[in-house]
Amino acid sequence: MSVFRTKSVEASMADADESEHQLKRELSALDLTVFGVGVIIGTGIFVLTGLAAKEHAGPAVALSFVVAGIVCGLAALCYAELASTVPVAGSAYTFAYATSGEIVAWIIGWDLLLEMALGAAVVAVGWSQYFSSLLDTIGWHLPASIAGGDGAFMDLPALLVVLVLTVVLVLGVKLSARVNSVIVAIKVAIVLFVIVAGLFFVKAANYHPFVPPSTPAPDTSGLQATLWQTILGSAPANFGVVGIFTAAAIVFFAFIGFDVVATAAEETRKPQRDVPRGIIGSLVICTALYVGVSLVVVGMQKYTELNPDAPLAEAFKSVGANWAATIITVGALAGLTTVVMILMLGQSRVLFAMSRDNLVPRGLATVHPTFRTPYRITILIGVVVAVLAAFIPLSALAELVNIGTLFAFVVVSIGVIVLRRTRPDLERAFRVPWVPVLPIASVLACLYLMLNLPVETWLRFLVWMVIGFIIYFWYGKRHSRVPDDAAGEVPAGTSPRSS
Ligand code: ALA
Repeated sequence: MSVFRTKSVEASMADADESEHQLKRELSALDLTVFGVGVIIGTGIFVLTGLAAKEHAGPAVALSFVVAGIVCGLAALCYAELASTVPVAGSAYTFAYATSGEIVAWIIGWDLLLEMALGAAVVAVGWSQYFSSLLDTIGWHLPASIAGGDGAFMDLPALLVVLVLTVVLVLGVKLSARVNSVIVAIKVAIVLFVIVAGLFFVKAANYHPFVPPSTPAPDTSGLQATLWQTILGSAPANFGVVGIFTAAAIVFFAFIGFDVVATAAEETRKPQRDVPRGIIGSLVICTALYVGVSLVVVGMQKYTELNPDAPLAEAFKSVGANWAATIITVGALAGLTTVVMILMLGQSRVLFAMSRDNLVPRGLATVHPTFRTPYRITILIGVVVAVLAAFIPLSALAELVNIGTLFAFVVVSIGVIVLRRTRPDLERAFRVPWVPVLPIASVLACLYLMLNLPVETWLRFLVWMVIGFIIYFWYGKRHSRVPDDAAGEVPAGTSPRSS
């Protein structure tokens, strides 16, 4: 059996029509754009901006957002083309199955667990921190042992928010979309508020030096240096032009999510047209907001004094506007809720597609008779994310989410070139311009950001991938529904090949 057998685009599309595994097509381009904004704006802008400016880029963190935005823009165009050609739930997983073969598809599916399930858990922990800080403001204090953070036994708020969101996801994608639209409206209003209100407190002096001179990072061990610095043999350093790119690799987290829009393709009324609109629209809106917020925040407070935990709220406190800080805390709390929810939604759709292909047990993919959602998978993911968020210290793992996502972007960008060659006949409602130049630029840009992540993140990523290979050879390869003849025709509703 070849591990490089591919599944034809037609077979993937046919799977979406099997009644037992059929999702409800309810979403429009606007719904998808709002979905995108709902999952994109979160911990990245509300938390990581402070750390990236204070430790790596200074006021030039705004340029880091531009760099990360450009990298994501290139990848977004590639996602848009593949989503308009293969509009089924698995996103990058399905694209890889059609273009690069089963083992690559599996590895991408496995890798997306890092992006979405681990990402959801990381953001749930961020949610819990904001929640505790809001409770403190109104004079309520959670017992330290259940409030998460150092020395706590568990993170109860993170556990509860994940479980409540799991219930919402099981009840239906339209309900999830409604909950999301209300929260996105609040979140965007808060971000605009930061930009407009913050402008009144900007001091030109805080922008000097805009690109602080490079300084050695003496406390950094070899494992925490970026892979790029290690390859070049240069000593770990912060700030300077190099710092802009290191910060870009960190704030990349803030952009994660536009690709999750592609996982809703099977629930979209006109996916070929609307998924590209949702992906690109949400990314453009968020990039503009991020550059605005980061410029204002580093203008309000000297970068050396920014707070790495709650930089936006603290910047307002630093100029005496405590009332504004409370508004931002409430907005961040609401905003992070939808990030967790949609990352879990995306994760469930990817696992749903993998389970339909028998790479994970097929029974998991059963759709609920009333709600038409993949409820078993959704509950399974909800429980895993809740346990991760409640009991595992996750803050060090945000960069693992980044590397996993960038790796998926690389495979998707290569997939555009491959599918243009292998299946030029397919209808493409959206076409990436300048193929193969633009997808190649996307691959190189993503690889460059990956090189700007610490060596220890690379090591963790490699360990995760090795575990993935072992599971594939132990389970997925033997149970796959896709036959070896490379025609990729999958008999409808087949039972596992080896059972
Ligand atoms: N982009 C999402 C965030 O910033 C994952 O939280």
